[in-house]
Amino acid sequence: MKFFIDTANLAQIKEASELGILDGVTTNPSLMAKEGIKGEEAIMQHYKTICEMVDGDISAEVISTDFEGMIAEGKKLVAIHKNIVVKVPMIKDGIKAIKWFTENGIRTNCTLIFSAGQAILAAKAGASYVSPFIGRIDDSGWDGMDLIHQLSQIFSVQGYKTEILAASIRNPNHIIKCAEAGADVCTCPLDSILGLLKHPLTDIGLAKFLEDAKKFA
Ligand code: G3P
Repeated sequence: MKFFIDTANLAQIKEASELGILDGVTTNPSLMAKEGIKGEEAIMQHYKTICEMVDGDISAEVISTDFEGMIAEGKKLVAIHKNIVVKVPMIKDGIKAIKWFTENGIRTNCTLIFSAGQAILAAKAGASYVSPFIGRIDDSGWDGMDLIHQLSQIFSVQGYKTEILAASIRNPNHIIKCAEAGADVCTCPLDSILGLLKHPLTDIGLAKFLEDAKKFA
């Protein structure tokens, strides 16, 4: 399973990248707004900076909701860097746009996936990635991980090339469960990635080793 970081924060991207396990970055309009980035020029520059920091797929989301607008935005985004993947919302014009991008050699990430039917449509249109939102499904009282299991099964049976990119990750256990369920990629907040490092027995064991090491140092 590949690890992406789900943020537009450059310090967090740097920290995850320095761990040596980072395969890519996903952003969305909310994450960009959180960093206070405003205006087309600043947004484009920010994506360029991220692409220069991480050698992997970088998802940049369109904000148009009509076919023509999405195509125009997507063309500008892919011109920034070869690693840009155009993130497109799961709506009717989004599916049309994904089909057009696929036919024109542009890779896409279909976002806001909450059901298997949506993921099947996106895969059929040729999306490079589908992004099921695990945490938001959990928040609504359903089990987000059920969808990852279901997509894993369907994509395997159907032989879809589209990768399952588990998103809306809220904790380290989500990451572990995604790996178990067969997600191809997990895009995570930095805290959830760092949370994987932690175990109290590791801390206790290390403290004891260091204490004993003093005896022969
Ligand atoms: O990038 C999309 C997704 O990961 C959003 O997560 O935490 O806002 O539900 P969240």
